[in-house]
Amino acid sequence: MELGLKNKVVLVPASSKGIGFGVAKVLASEGCKVVISSRNQDAISKAQDVIVKETGNENVQAIRADLTVKREVDRLVDEATSEFGAIDILAYNTGPPKPGTFKELSYEDWEQAVRLLLMSAVWLTKRVITGMVGKKSGRLIYITSSALRQPVPNLVLSNTVRLSLAGLSKSLAIEYGSSGITSNGIMLGHILTERQRQVAQDISSRTGKNVEQAMKELVLDVPQGRYGQPEEVGCLVAFLASDKAGYVNGSMLAIDGGLIRSVF
Ligand SMILES: NC(=O)c1ccc[n+]([C@@H]2O[C@H](COP(=O)([O-])OP(=O)(O)OC[C@H]3O[C@@H](n4cnc5c(N)ncnc54)[C@H](OP(=O)(O)O)[C@@H]3O)[C@@H](O)[C@H]2O)c1
Repeated sequence: MELGLKNKVVLVPASSKGIGFGVAKVLASEGCKVVISSRNQDAISKAQDVIVKETGNENVQAIRADLTVKREVDRLVDEATSEFGAIDILAYNTGPPKPGTFKELSYEDWEQAVRLLLMSAVWLTKRVITGMVGKKSGRLIYITSSALRQPVPNLVLSNTVRLSLAGLSKSLAIEYGSSGITSNGIMLGHILTERQRQVAQDISSRTGKNVEQAMKELVLDVPQGRYGQPEEVGCLVAFLASDKAGYVNGSMLAIDGGLIRSVF
């Protein structure tokens, strides 16, 4: 299926590795002009080199920016738009929040998680939506977690703060639907990245299990019996970003191998 994404300008934050990287790579292979970012200049520049090499698409821009700091988010959008023009597609992704139980987490941890998992989405959306309204076209895609439907043990920040992102995405779908803009979310199950290893290490330190065993046990609940790959998430993002998904608006789609047990 031809997705018609060639030369669309896409911003994929938090993308030096893991899911953001996989999404950026798929969109680059579809011919988008891709802006990637992370907090570490070396890491994001290396990711840029790999994407250019593997996809043959030279329209990849790497920008250092910490998503928890508003002025850095503003600079990210300024630099992205001055290089490629207004953003057509926001494939919103963030870094992982600190793991922990309610008892373990401090007020500072909560405030940091709100900046990371909610305010960064508000800041980015505020900056990209004007251009989308002007063009009467745009795609807002919020990558989030299956924790929205099924809270994950020891990830209280994720279980709590991410729910507000679902409210934001749905509200935007309603508010901007008549402006040619769609807003949708993606709930991730277990996707094979360093984050999953971090979760397994956390389980290991709490239970004494070895990390490899914990990695295997994490996917026992997945009917498909395996981890998903970041590029599989990228394929879903590419579809949602395309004109083919023009009537998909206000949805929250799971990509989890069947992990979430609820029917709706
Ligand atoms: N993997 C899964 O199965 C899974 C499941 C559910 C939800 N999620 C969520 O999906 C998101 C991506 O996860 P992942 O597995 O791809 O994680 P990952 O492999 O650890 O990659 C995280 C990426 O985010 C960047 N990053 C971290 N903090 C940042 C910040 N404050 N500002 C800008 N960039 C930042 C990192 O680069 P720098 O360190 O250089 O900044 C890196 O590029 C996370 O929110 C995670 O919690 C993942």
